Amino acid sequence: MLDKVKELLRELFTCLQSAKMYGTEHVLFKKALDRSYLVFQDALSSQNEIVIGIVGEELAFGKEILFDLSKLLNPSIIYLKERNIERLAFYRGLAKDELEKFIIFISGKKDDSSLALQEQLSLLGIRNIDVGKLKAYGNGLAKQAQESIKKLSLYDDSARDVSLALDNALNAEKIDHLTLKSSINNIVENLNNKDSDILKLATLKRYSLETYTHMLNVSIIAMHFSSRLGFDKEEVLNIGIAALFHDIGKLYISRKVLNKKDKLIEQEFNQIKSHTLLGAEMMLKYVDSLGQLPVVVTFEHHLKYDLSGYPRIAFAKKPHIVSLIVSICDVYDALSQRRVYKQDYSPDLVYNIMNKDKGSAFEPELLDRFFRIIGVWPPGAIVSLDNGMVALVRQENESDIFRPKIEIIAPQQDRGLIDLSERKDLKIQRYLDPWKEGKEYLSLIDNIIR
Ligand SMILES: [Fe+2]
Ligand SMILES: [Fe+2]
Repeated sequence: MLDKVKELLRELFTCLQSAKMYGTEHVLFKKALDRSYLVFQDALSSQNEIVIGIVGEELAFGKEILFDLSKLLNPSIIYLKERNIERLAFYRGLAKDELEKFIIFISGKKDDSSLALQEQLSLLGIRNIDVGKLKAYGNGLAKQAQESIKKLSLYDDSARDVSLALDNALNAEKIDHLTLKSSINNIVENLNNKDSDILKLATLKRYSLETYTHMLNVSIIAMHFSSRLGFDKEEVLNIGIAALFHDIGKLYISRKVLNKKDKLIEQEFNQIKSHTLLGAEMMLKYVDSLGQLPVVVTFEHHLKYDLSGYPRIAFAKKPHIVSLIVSICDVYDALSQRRVYKQDYSPDLVYNIMNKDKGSAFEPELLDRFFRIIGVWPPGAIVSLDNGMVALVRQENESDIFRPKIEIIAPQQDRGLIDLSERKDLKIQRYLDPWKEGKEYLSLIDNIIR
């Protein structure tokens, strides 16, 4: 069914697009309408209704968030949201002229009528399409994601501002430092009371944002880490900005090389390596406003603690502490989001991999403190225990990074909070990927996500 729904959305949005581009009398619109109606008929022959939600800026169907499709259809999604449409329901019995009237209606000028959308559709004689604000339908991921996204909209706005600032930097236009600073400032303000939520959203967002999301993630993790290390607010902000731009040089490297899944040949690897120099050169232009730190961090973040990384430097010089901080956050984020290679690393594996490089790539004390602060099992992770129960990680325990506070979600009768540091008889056995084996438990955590 999911594939059918995806096809249906593609056709529907193409139809809307052609209505806007050519007008609703044009033959191209009529053809798109025909195609779209055929898919609707097919899909509604096996379902009584098809309900699509717009959660944040993502399309959702049932428990699925359609990340790839949402990226593709983003302008149309925004368009619908501007018209207060967050939920579209199509019912069996949908007639072609209803679909046509509906598309003509939404492709027209934004209506300021005081009538509710649904009433306007009724007046047009459209009975088998229902639109409006998102209702909580079902107990699935859509609702959960909706809650998380709503709760963290501050981050979303900041993400947009930050991405704009990055775009401007790429186009060699003036960086809007004020916006950038205030965006990062908002994130910092939020870190104080909702730090684990921010980290959770960073996990969620990984599924939908592009290269710069990595930089934003690293920036957020670096700010979280450095504020817990005791840096003052101004320093945390500066670290956040430096971390934010650490990979900016990659924007000059061909996507083909950046996204290559196979082993890189030497020449390609050299290209990748050049992002440190390219980035540092770029950040040099902004020393007046952003200071030296972004230059230092872009240049040094792959240098490694024992200087065995790149770029090779002629004289031994210990990397700046902020470069060491950013390099830990950088590798942590990169390993945690290896989705491009379809090889997700579970949190405990990330911990093990990074620990192998303790003392060589990473400053040992900093790495230990990093995992004491972040925890091996991040808040929000779904895990199975060695007694067969399934739990949600609630809070890390600095005293024992392997034993966080958890909330049992299955079996239902055992629900409740457990501090694993006080229950040595229990152990986390395995991480359950929320997009795979952990999926069936998502509905169980709906009511405890706050
Ligand atoms: Fe990098
Ligand atoms: Fe990076």
